[in-house]
Amino acid sequence: MQEKPKAVVLISGAGSNLQAIINAINVGKLDLDIQSVISNNKDAGGLLLASKNGLNSEFIDHRRYADRLDYDHALIKSIDAKQIQIVVLAGFMRILSDEFVNHYLGQLINIHPSLLPEFKGLNTHQRAIDAGCKHHGASVHFVTPTLDDGPVIVQEKLEIKPNDTAESLAQRVLNIEHQIYPLALQWLVQGRVELKDSGIYFDSKPLTTPQILSETQT
Ligand code: GRF
Repeated sequence: MQEKPKAVVLISGAGSNLQAIINAINVGKLDLDIQSVISNNKDAGGLLLASKNGLNSEFIDHRRYADRLDYDHALIKSIDAKQIQIVVLAGFMRILSDEFVNHYLGQLINIHPSLLPEFKGLNTHQRAIDAGCKHHGASVHFVTPTLDDGPVIVQEKLEIKPNDTAESLAQRVLNIEHQIYPLALQWLVQGRVELKDSGIYFDSKPLTTPQILSETQT
């Protein structure tokens, strides 16, 4: 049997996307071999999930490094030692240096809780409500040096209900994140999706708009 591509998952928080990825691997929907879960936060719930699932994990504390580049060098050192093919950002709450991003370009993938290019950055749910949006959702994208700006592979959208709060919306968006992240990762593993000439190719054809799923398709 062919070896599964090796991945690291970078987290800072609860790790529900990490768990969704692990679940997809366990049921055979995602052919990925997670070598390690790396966190910059020692209290991240995701570290506990990693150990419950029998995965290696590392806490690499950004406060111990002089600056962003120094920290990113430590990350690169740890990741490259494992001969990784895919670097998965799953709620990793740090801005990555251009050097880090360019080192893994095409292999570095992130999930963001909005329909990019709308609402880059933080507090996306409240901002979507405040802006009076009818729809909101999540996007999986290749990471490029500009924050939350890389080409989007797949999005799933949902309708914002009149009584939605940032919290209720966050929960519903998380549910769709858990569907689309493993899906997009499997496309990457299968070589169906790739970053080429700063655009996305899907099944060898340029993808001009992201794959858009509705709640019923995943
Ligand atoms: C998710 O909403 C993800 O989109 C964002 O950070 C959150 C991480 O949640 N980048 P979890 O730690 O996976 O539960």
